[in-house]
Amino acid sequence: MIRSVILGSGSAKPRNVLTNDELAKRVDTSDEWIKQRTGIEQRYIAEEDETTASLGEAAARAALADAGVSVDDLDMIMLATSTPNNTFPATAVDIQHRLGMKHGAAFDMQAVCSGFVFAVTTADTYIKAGQAKRILVIGAETFSRILDWEDRTTCVLFGDGAGAVVIEAQEGVGLSNDRGILTSHLRSDGSHKAKLYVDGGPSTTQTVGHLRMQGREVFKHAVAMITDVIEDAFSATGLTADDIDWFIPHQANRRIIDASARKLNIAPEKVVMTVHKHGNTSAASIPLAIQTARDDGRLKQGDLVLLEAMGGGFTWGAVLVRW
Ligand code: ACO
Repeated sequence: MIRSVILGSGSAKPRNVLTNDELAKRVDTSDEWIKQRTGIEQRYIAEEDETTASLGEAAARAALADAGVSVDDLDMIMLATSTPNNTFPATAVDIQHRLGMKHGAAFDMQAVCSGFVFAVTTADTYIKAGQAKRILVIGAETFSRILDWEDRTTCVLFGDGAGAVVIEAQEGVGLSNDRGILTSHLRSDGSHKAKLYVDGGPSTTQTVGHLRMQGREVFKHAVAMITDVIEDAFSATGLTADDIDWFIPHQANRRIIDASARKLNIAPEKVVMTVHKHGNTSAASIPLAIQTARDDGRLKQGDLVLLEAMGGGFTWGAVLVRW
């Protein structure tokens, strides 16, 4: 059977770091409060010349080089983002142009913090259907541009960045020791919209708007939704928490990640944590964490990796992939 194998990865971060102490000079907060409630110590913030498209392009170039693949070898580009450069055209098409690619197709995917999991799952579906052989999947965000910098309950939580992977169709046996995506599960429920949303948009206010969140309400649902969809991934494959080499979750909050790992019996040393350095970078957080684990030598070929995310919508999902 055809498997969607991850050939390479890359990431890009803005030049500027914003620490909790620097943030405490702008709003009524403290390093201690932010660290204790979220685990976040710093985040990267894009400067004016850094955009979702430029960060996405840099991550894409790094992933292509790592995979040893040129743009000529790609059939498709998918960009997971909630902070596009323009309302349209899709920022994926902008990145396609920046990469010098004129063939194939490029489009954006909107599932907020779950965007990378939704895009990887969609890429897997195109590959398994024989519609594409090689797909570049990018998660890129500039959430700093949709934050209300006077609202301390949200502006301390998010950051900017980008990550990317190149996925290729390869022949597998159909067993769980195959390389590639073994299973993926997506969910959404629009009844939770008011808990996490942006209060503007082209068809309503004709403005971009600012992120609004009922943090405690999001927290209340997060662990149950995350663990539920991961249980689906385990039942679909017969794999268990013991089989996992690395748990690479969406990086929103250390307490949510720790509680999810505990509930699933995933050992703490298998959890890849980057929220302290990056903050919540929405659709970019998983590929940024993937790259961190590759750069420091933890993530190697053959490892079984569990990806998971939950975000605005609500949307949530899980992917099991053998690297
Ligand atoms: N600094 C100092 N005090 C603050 C800050 C801040 N930055 N923000 C809020 N407070 C105060 C509040 O005003 C409140 O004060 P009060 O008791 O006098 O009213 C107090 O701290 C407690 O506020 P809560 O909101 O109840 O704090 P909580 O413990 O719930 O922590 C947090 C807030 C960190 C947002 C938490 O609810 C959380 O992590 N929720 C999940 C949010 C999340 O992860 N969202 C992203 C997931 S989805 C996605 O990725 C898009």
